[in-house]
Amino acid sequence: MKNFFAEPGFLGTHGSMGADLSFLLAIFFTGFFLYAWRLAKNHKGNTHHTLTLWGMLLMLVYFSGYYLIRDLGVLALEGREGFGGGDFLYSYAFIPILTVHVFLASVGIFIAFYMINLGFRASFLVQGKRVLKEEELRIKQKDFYVSLASFLVFFGIVALIRCATLRCMMVYVIGFLLVSLVFIFEKFMERVIPIGAKRHRVLGKITMLMFVSILITSMMTYSLLYIFYAPTLSGH
Ligand code: HEM
Repeated sequence: MKNFFAEPGFLGTHGSMGADLSFLLAIFFTGFFLYAWRLAKNHKGNTHHTLTLWGMLLMLVYFSGYYLIRDLGVLALEGREGFGGGDFLYSYAFIPILTVHVFLASVGIFIAFYMINLGFRASFLVQGKRVLKEEELRIKQKDFYVSLASFLVFFGIVALIRCATLRCMMVYVIGFLLVSLVFIFEKFMERVIPIGAKRHRVLGKITMLMFVSILITSMMTYSLLYIFYAPTLSGH
C-alpha cells in the first residue's frame, strides 16, 4: 500500500498517487459537507445527520489511514528539500500557507468531533423527523465528570492492552486530551450560546467555513508542490 501511494499520480501533475487521491478526496468531501449543509438549511435534518456522520467517518478513516501508512512522509513535510520553487517563495508563501493549512486541519478535526456530538445532543426526533431543540442545553456536572472518567478508563484499558512502548501510550494520552478539550470547549460554549439549536447553527457555519478554508489551503499547497514546480525529491 505504501508503494502504491508513492507511485506517480493520475492527474498529469508531478503529484504521487497518494497526493492526487488525497487532493481529489479533499474536494469530494468538502463538496459533500456543503451539500449536507444545504440539506440542513432546507430543514432536511435526517439526511443532513446521516450524510455528515458517514462523511466524517469515511474522511477520518481515509486520511488517518493515509497519514499512518505514509508515516507523515509526505513531500510537504520534507522541509526545504521537498519544495521545487525558490527560497523567497518557500519562506513567504509555501511555509505560511502550509502552517495555516496544518493548523486549520488540526482544529477542524477537533471541531468536527465536537459538532457530531453536539448534533446528537441538540436534536431530537419528532414523528421521525430530526429537529433541533430550541432550549438551553447544558451537561449536568455529574454527567460531565462521569463521562470524562469513563473516557479515561477506556483509553487507559486500550493503551494497556495494545501498547508496549511509551510512544504508543502517548497516542492514547493525546486521544484522551483531545476528548477532554471537547468537553472543556462545550462547557465554555454553554455560557456563550446557551440555546442548543443556536449553538449548533452558529458553530456549524464556522465549521463549514473552516472546511472550505482547509480545502483552499490544501489546493494552494498542492499547486505549489506539484503543478507550478517539480519536486526535487523522488519517490513522493
Ligand atoms: C460536522 C458536523 C456537522 C456540521 C458542520 C453541521 C452543521 C449544521 C448547520 C450549519 C446547520 C444550520 C443550517 C442553517 O440553518 O444554515 C445545521 C442544522 C442542523 N443539524 Fe447539523 N451539523 C453537523 C452534524 C449534525 C449531526 C450529527 C446531527 C444530528 C445528529 C445534526 C442535526 C442537525 C439538525 C436537526 C439541524 C436543523 C435542521 C433544520 O433546521 O430543520 N447535525 N447543522
